[in-house]
Amino acid sequence: MTTRIIGTGSSLPKQTVTNDDLSKIMDTSDEWISSRTGIRERHLAKEETTASLSVEAAGKALQNAGIRAEEVDLLIVATITGDYVTPSTACEVQAGLGASRAVAFDINAACSGFMFALHTAHAYLQTGIYRTALVVGAETLSKIMDWSDRSTCVLFGDGAGAAVVRAFGEDGTEKEGMGKGGSEKGCGGLLAFEQGSDGFRGKVLACEGRKNHNPLVQNPLVPSYVGMDGQEVYKFAVSTVPASILRVLDRAGVDAGEIKYFVLHQANIRIIQSVAKRLKADVGKFPLSLDHCGNVSAASVPILLDEMNQKGMLEKGDKIVMSGFGGGLTWASAVIEW
Ligand code: UT7
Repeated sequence: MTTRIIGTGSSLPKQTVTNDDLSKIMDTSDEWISSRTGIRERHLAKEETTASLSVEAAGKALQNAGIRAEEVDLLIVATITGDYVTPSTACEVQAGLGASRAVAFDINAACSGFMFALHTAHAYLQTGIYRTALVVGAETLSKIMDWSDRSTCVLFGDGAGAAVVRAFGEDGTEKEGMGKGGSEKGCGGLLAFEQGSDGFRGKVLACEGRKNHNPLVQNPLVPSYVGMDGQEVYKFAVSTVPASILRVLDRAGVDAGEIKYFVLHQANIRIIQSVAKRLKADVGKFPLSLDHCGNVSAASVPILLDEMNQKGMLEKGDKIVMSGFGGGLTWASAVIEW
């Protein structure tokens, strides 16, 4: 049994905000933001919500896979910015798509969220519990930014990306009744995963939830925002990500030289350049979306994957690495044969 991504989709809010736009409302500049991070603009939600962006991205992924919403057995949304505490964003997406048979739930693993969700879907599919999964990474981070803190708010953006993942037999064929979208796609698929967490260092990137508020304790209901020790997160990323990628390559029995693309979480171009250097890989193999999306946390990896898919960059048999890292702290990498 193997699992394969058979369709991708993404959705960005209509409104684009450039670095120059931000420099008109706070003490920053295009020069500082683009030279330190590679980010030039980001999309910020106005009417869009985490659920509406997810529904659009997921709908496009289903269309790209050539399957109907009713065929989805498992629907996982990775997000830290759901519109409700309950229902989950995944349940909202189920209703929005009409995925009536799906079991739906959210995962919170911040910027590693899509990778954690993909691994979870892979495990369900591998064991034969489900056959078709829809995995979404979606955020409206702009609502948890402190817009008076230039050291964080300029970095993040809003958006969603999605992938349809399906189980196949070892020979690459679907089992009877598994619907359209498969047998011609061959074997390969998700070859290996590697993931980890370090809650001991979690406070370097945090956004507090509600404090206790009940008849025993009266805390004011004030909203909280993202706070980050950027340099600590930077050090974590440039050491953990290459090590995680080397471990997952080893697990897959694949040499770094065989990898066509490294699809990394889009936090900072300098982190990506450092990872490329540590892996002794050509930085040209590391596609970017951060220049026009900023850091979209759980949505970064699937948005970039969809952009690559739409541009026709992914060909059958290509081996790619995907890697996410961030809040928790968490990290996760995978090797995929397209
Ligand atoms: O997705 C989760 C993962 N997150 C990350 O991976 C983020 C990792 N960290 C980073 O990418 C970088 O640490 C940042 C981009 C967040 C910051 O870059 P830095 O080179 O570490 O800058 P810094 O925090 O050391 O700040 C340098 C200077 C400071 O001024 P002084 O103290 O040197 O006078 C800041 O006040 O830059 C100033 N600064 C800004 N200036 C203009 C901070 N933010 C801004 C800003 N515009 N937006």
